[in-house]
Amino acid sequence: MKFYSILALGAALMTSVAALPKITRTGRYLYSADGTRFFVKGIAYQQQGLIVSGPDNPLNQPSTFVDQLADDKGCARDLPQLKKLGVNAIRAYSVDSTLNHDSCMAALSGAGIYVILDLTLPLNGSIDTTQPTWGTNLLDQYIKTINVFSKYDNILAFNVGNEVLTADATNAAPFLKAAARDIKAYLTSISSSALVGYADIDGASSFRDAVSAYLSCDPSGAGKGDTSIDLFGLNNYEWCGDAATTTYDGINKEFANYNVAAYFSEFGSENCSPGVRPWTEVGTLFASPMTDVWSGGLAFSYFPASSAGHEFGMATLSSDNSSVTTNTDFDNLASQYAKVSFVTTPAQASAAQSTFGACPAEGASLAASAALPPTPNDSACACVASKLGCSFKVPANGDFTALVGTLTGQVCGLLPNVNGSCADIGANGTAGVYGIMAQCDPVTRLSYAFSQFYELSARVDTSCDFSGNATINPSLVTAPSAAVSQCLPSPSAVFTPTAPAGASSAAGASGTSAAGTGGGGTGGKTGGAMSVRVGLAAAVVCVLGGMGLVWM
Ligand SMILES: *[C@@H]1O[C@H](CO)[C@@H](O)[C@H](O)[C@H]1NC(C)=O
Ligand SMILES: *[C@@H]1O[C@H](CO)[C@@H](O)[C@H](O)[C@H]1NC(C)=O
Ligand SMILES: *[C@@H]1O[C@H](CO)[C@@H](O)[C@H](O)[C@H]1NC(C)=O
Ligand SMILES: *[C@@H]1O[C@H](CO)[C@@H](O)[C@H](O)[C@H]1NC(C)=O
Ligand SMILES: *[C@@H]1O[C@H](CO)[C@@H](O)[C@H](O)[C@H]1NC(C)=O
Ligand SMILES: *[C@@H]1O[C@H](CO)[C@@H](O)[C@H](O)[C@H]1NC(C)=O
Repeated sequence: MKFYSILALGAALMTSVAALPKITRTGRYLYSADGTRFFVKGIAYQQQGLIVSGPDNPLNQPSTFVDQLADDKGCARDLPQLKKLGVNAIRAYSVDSTLNHDSCMAALSGAGIYVILDLTLPLNGSIDTTQPTWGTNLLDQYIKTINVFSKYDNILAFNVGNEVLTADATNAAPFLKAAARDIKAYLTSISSSALVGYADIDGASSFRDAVSAYLSCDPSGAGKGDTSIDLFGLNNYEWCGDAATTTYDGINKEFANYNVAAYFSEFGSENCSPGVRPWTEVGTLFASPMTDVWSGGLAFSYFPASSAGHEFGMATLSSDNSSVTTNTDFDNLASQYAKVSFVTTPAQASAAQSTFGACPAEGASLAASAALPPTPNDSACACVASKLGCSFKVPANGDFTALVGTLTGQVCGLLPNVNGSCADIGANGTAGVYGIMAQCDPVTRLSYAFSQFYELSARVDTSCDFSGNATINPSLVTAPSAAVSQCLPSPSAVFTPTAPAGASSAAGASGTSAAGTGGGGTGGKTGGAMSVRVGLAAAVVCVLGGMGLVWM
């Protein structure tokens, strides 16, 4: 529900839309500020990115994105359609924190639409599936986005990852959990009530169970929720065509005792009725017994999005992007959403609080230690970098992610020759072993490895060259190990992170919706889409003395 009021401000008469009520989690359910249960009745809202093949993109993930929430004209064009659909939430997969989002966020808020926002960006802007770390670079990227969006009243949740974990690779889970821990602490520190979420790819029940349990467990054994996500999203495409209501019996049973809120972060299979999905799962998803277990979901997708030979889009833009045409899929979803009325039980007062149990044991379905990496320390990494003897020459322009990967592979291959190793810059989530420098960004880690090689090679000039990619620090006084002990007094510390230099200042939701002038909307291509694991940096594995360590 929205309320309108007219405010006279000085000479100007401005229309101000009262804030949307805050959505919070009590136990496993979501509640609106007045205590009524809240369900996500939403849609994915982001155009598919371009796939740019190259050394940085071994799995051909979308490489580009356009920030839909900075496209004022696009938002204005789509708002009537979103209203027709009757959604109360959208999910956006990537945003550019340097752009202005006031206009679009205010428009959505005015229409009663919340935003679930992924903090990740394509390629190196996400925790990597197979070579994961949780470092200052990603922490800073996430915080910059939070600082831009936390002022809006309609931010429902920030996702720390989308489909990072797969059945074959769950070793990134400790890094996601550390990200959830640090982002949660940061949100608390800026008085933001936004929830912290993760969107999981579907899979075998053993995989779903292990991942969902791990992300909401307490490794300390103290029954605390500080490393738990608030909102488990399942990208679920089980329901096909006019399926039987028993379709979801399996996942209902699996999640019957889940301890935090769960919803479908994507749904809408195209397999049985391509282009004319009946969306009959909506009636089942928003009714008992699903509502005892789940808090709604996000249909996929407003914009065209193709995957595995299917087209999931429901709205097509005209060639000049000025207008939009919707399809039968869209009409069907709108009519199913129109029939939904939210159940009101349990009341907030009688909702059980969450309990946070021990983390699941490692095994065939889970290669994730309960030992989490530390909170990345920006000033410590900057301090070490300033004291290193041999540094990577950061190219003035262009994407240097692949180069950093290649050079890291080179120096880690050379270090054993001088009795060194890359153990300090590596991290292994399965073993729960985190090198002392693994929390720093890839460039600082590379410079650290260069400096170890330089130091162990008796600082001969030729050992700090790497085909012109490395440069000697003329005022060098300390060895890399000394730099670390001077700059990083407690390398495994867990603490509340602060905003990096250059981030805009944070504002917790102030209770009024932001009415801004809006920045320049941009057209262009965009990324982030279903089943798209954003963020596979070119990476190299370094095996040292039988113990493999990974750094990108
Ligand atoms: C990704 O790589 C680009 C350059 O290649 C760099 O400017 C950016 O900071 C990196 N982002 C993260 C989160 O590491
Ligand atoms: C490396 O260590 C071994 C054994 O500790 C030693 O024999 C060898 O001389 C060392 N090599 C270098 C290059 O320091
Ligand atoms: C840096 O390293 C890459 C890869 O080894 C090499 O191709 C390049 O020529 C080097 N030099 C510079 C200045 O980039
Ligand atoms: C982070 O690093 C800075 C700079 O070395 C240091 O002063 C500070 O104590 C560190 N913070 C924590 C929590 O360890
Ligand atoms: C329309 O939008 C698309 C995707 O956002 C963009 O690639 C294209 O350049 C835009 N076209 C025009 C005419 O603005
Ligand atoms: C990480 O540690 C596990 C368990 O100790 C080990 O089996 C695995 O090979 C290591 N991973 C890498 C990439 O070295």
